Amino acid sequence: MRLIYIFTGRIIINLMARYLFLLCFFSIISSHAQVYDLRTEHLTTPLGIDAPQPRLSWKQRDSRPGAGQKAYQVWLGTDSLAVAGEKAGSGGKVNSAENLITYTRENLQPFTRYFWKVVIWDNHSGRVSSDVTSFETGLMQVSNWKGEWISDGTDIRLKPAPYFRHGFETGKKIRSARAYIAAGGLFELYINGTKIGDHMLDPNYTRFDRRILYVTHDVTRELKAGKNAIGVLLGNGWYNHQSTAVWYFDRAPWRNRPAFCMDLRITYEDGSTETISSGRNWKTALSPVIFNSIYTAEHYDARKEIGGWNLPDFNDTQWKNSVLRSAPSQNIVSQAFQPIRAVEEIPVKSLNKINDTVYVFDLGRNISGVSRITLSGPEGTEVRLKHAERLYENGRPDMSNIDAHYRPTDDSDPFQTDIFILKGEGTETFMPRFNYKGFQYVEVTASRPVQLSSNSLKGYFVHSDVAPVGKITSSDDLLNRIWWATNNSYLSNLAGYPTDCPQREKNGWTGDAHIASETGLFNFDGITVYEKWMADHRDEQQPNGVLPSIIPTGGWGYEWGNGPDWTSTIAIIPWNLYLFYGDLKPLQDNYEHMKRYVDLITQRYPSGLTSWGLGDWIPVKSKSPVELTSTAYYYTDTRILAQTAKLLGQPADHQKYTALAEKIRKVFNEKYLNRETGLYGSGLQTELAVPLFWGLVPEELRQKVADNLAQRVKADGTQMDVGLLGTKALLQALSDNGHEEVAYALAGRKTFPSWGWWITNGATTLYENWPIDAKSDISMNHIMFGEIGAWLFKAPGGIKPDPAQPGFRNVILEPRFAGGPDTFSAEHNGRYGMIRSSWEKNEKEITYRVTVPANSTATVRLPQVEGRRWYRDGVEVKGREIQVSSGTFEFKNN
Ligand code: BGC
Repeated sequence: MRLIYIFTGRIIINLMARYLFLLCFFSIISSHAQVYDLRTEHLTTPLGIDAPQPRLSWKQRDSRPGAGQKAYQVWLGTDSLAVAGEKAGSGGKVNSAENLITYTRENLQPFTRYFWKVVIWDNHSGRVSSDVTSFETGLMQVSNWKGEWISDGTDIRLKPAPYFRHGFETGKKIRSARAYIAAGGLFELYINGTKIGDHMLDPNYTRFDRRILYVTHDVTRELKAGKNAIGVLLGNGWYNHQSTAVWYFDRAPWRNRPAFCMDLRITYEDGSTETISSGRNWKTALSPVIFNSIYTAEHYDARKEIGGWNLPDFNDTQWKNSVLRSAPSQNIVSQAFQPIRAVEEIPVKSLNKINDTVYVFDLGRNISGVSRITLSGPEGTEVRLKHAERLYENGRPDMSNIDAHYRPTDDSDPFQTDIFILKGEGTETFMPRFNYKGFQYVEVTASRPVQLSSNSLKGYFVHSDVAPVGKITSSDDLLNRIWWATNNSYLSNLAGYPTDCPQREKNGWTGDAHIASETGLFNFDGITVYEKWMADHRDEQQPNGVLPSIIPTGGWGYEWGNGPDWTSTIAIIPWNLYLFYGDLKPLQDNYEHMKRYVDLITQRYPSGLTSWGLGDWIPVKSKSPVELTSTAYYYTDTRILAQTAKLLGQPADHQKYTALAEKIRKVFNEKYLNRETGLYGSGLQTELAVPLFWGLVPEELRQKVADNLAQRVKADGTQMDVGLLGTKALLQALSDNGHEEVAYALAGRKTFPSWGWWITNGATTLYENWPIDAKSDISMNHIMFGEIGAWLFKAPGGIKPDPAQPGFRNVILEPRFAGGPDTFSAEHNGRYGMIRSSWEKNEKEITYRVTVPANSTATVRLPQVEGRRWYRDGVEVKGREIQVSSGTFEFKNN
């Protein structure tokens, strides 16, 4: 008996110990509830914010099921201690789960550092405070500029890039210093010989006569007491395009010799400020950059280097004074986005020495970017670095797929070929500053024998430095590789604006960009770049609503390619930003512009059907009617506009555009849908997939149309027969309508025509054309067929934003298992934190795991398999849809 007591006593003690342990465990977790990732205007501690009422956002980290925010309070002010101590700067507690707000208490002041923090009240631990973060406002208004616009006053055809320098003295002790610099063209800024910042190709391309970006740098550390020197090197960029190609960049209305305006604002320890500004007294001379073109290449003559040009003691009496210029535009705004950087260094994979003057380097992968060469040789040795995507059989670069639209007037500007002339002093290095290329191979030819090894050259992957927020891993290595290659092409085509390809064009092709925008947003935190690009749209739109097919543009593109299938960017991109970030601002900013665009189409095509556009570009074989695809985009824009009107509280517009959308849908279906057979047009893949994807099919016929699509794909040999617009729709239209097995078969296909066909043939990026030996349109780094990157999240991963609660406040999770790999995982680090959707499956069982971040919820839709049931933690799930709180959950199907 005693023994039994002792025994039960032990059990009780044991249980108590466990209970205590769990208690401690949860209190540790609860003390780990965190508010993190504070952003201002979607950036972390940015400098140079122009928004007088910026957007502030944060996230909550808490893995306990159901963790969420009930209320928040923001403190914001110029006194960090007062903010930290919650003494001043708050509008009070707000009962709301919002984690993205617009700061509206006051208009912020220019040139000011603000501190802010947020306290949230959650439903577990009570009050949780974030750390204090900061941001700084910039000039905010053009009238705050003190500097004058200067250039060297030479002709636009002059090739060498100009240097500028200015010496000055500081007397008092410096507390902080900021450089604000705006340029028509590109710049490199130096203070006392040190290059400032790690950005590349600043400021970014805009329609320079309508809007110029300025860049802000903290230069406190580079300034010294006493003598200082500012050095600026100006490049042409898109501002002074000297190369000639079919888009006539050289005839841009804004074209001029590069110019800049700079204010160096110093705040001294005693609180006084002084601004050193660009002006006529700044000295200028030509630099060793003897030619630079954003489009083709850069030439550098090291013999022309001017030692110490950017140092205080340099004697600049031989230099000319600068020339005063008008500002290229009166609209000078902060470049508040993730900058372009050389994000990744790519080592050489193999080197082929052809002879002692010719070497071909292979990076092993295709990138956008630059190469850096280090070598030594006699003075005057001319080294050419030719960048190509592919090689001829003889191992030499084949440029024919990328120089097709280049129209050089002489041989002084060879395509994608840097020229480096050695000064003959020891080891010398060259990397272009004002150009980037698309390439995998670099052929180095030297005018005299040189010794090179694979270490002599490095590649740099250059693109907008947007943080990765998505990840796909699966047991099917082909899908993993397709995902990686898609991201490589996406990033290769993000240079402050989305491009079609980094080599042949570097054009902001609208169609390519809206097609790839979901892929981009699932994988990268790109809102700031897209917002900048939408501002480019607003600059380019004509009063009648027309948009050009490439944005920005020097004038080309208003004539060709700018139908709704391409320029629907004006509606689709703001809408996707709204879905992914839950931020209304992109819709607000572009609302009037969408309206103008939709009204224009309505006016031009009163029937509701429009044949304006390029149609299903680069199809495998069949071309669908342009009117079908363009009308689908007209409908989509109108629907987005109607929904936006509702969100922005415009009931009359909401009604008007809802009715218009209905009309378009009606005439579209009257013309193209055969209600008997459930076929659109002649039943091609694109003809069926596009209406399904964009929601034009009458509900009662949706399944029939989808079944027809699946059948058609099978009849076509379970292979794609689509172009750009069909590719956007095909996989999702199948997966969303019970034919995911067919979608998986297409996605996993390794033979022509497929993504797998490219990958099996060695692609590390996506191509522009399905046949790898196509005779034209065969850039090897195009994002246009990149929808598959989004599909991996939306169908296998099943992660979709919920339009009713955007920004993943509620996540839709509807994974597609049938026909998929044995294991699959999709992760998206969204506005609320990390969403995970992963599964394992075998003949008998599917295990599906989801993680829903704190302060958000999910609607889980579990596909039904005949004869099987779904269980959550052992309890049977009734129905096919369940709502879950935040936390990690496991479902089993057997
Ligand atoms: C580009 C495409 C673009 C197309 C428009 C091509 O030259 O590279 O990606 O969308 O033109 O037709």
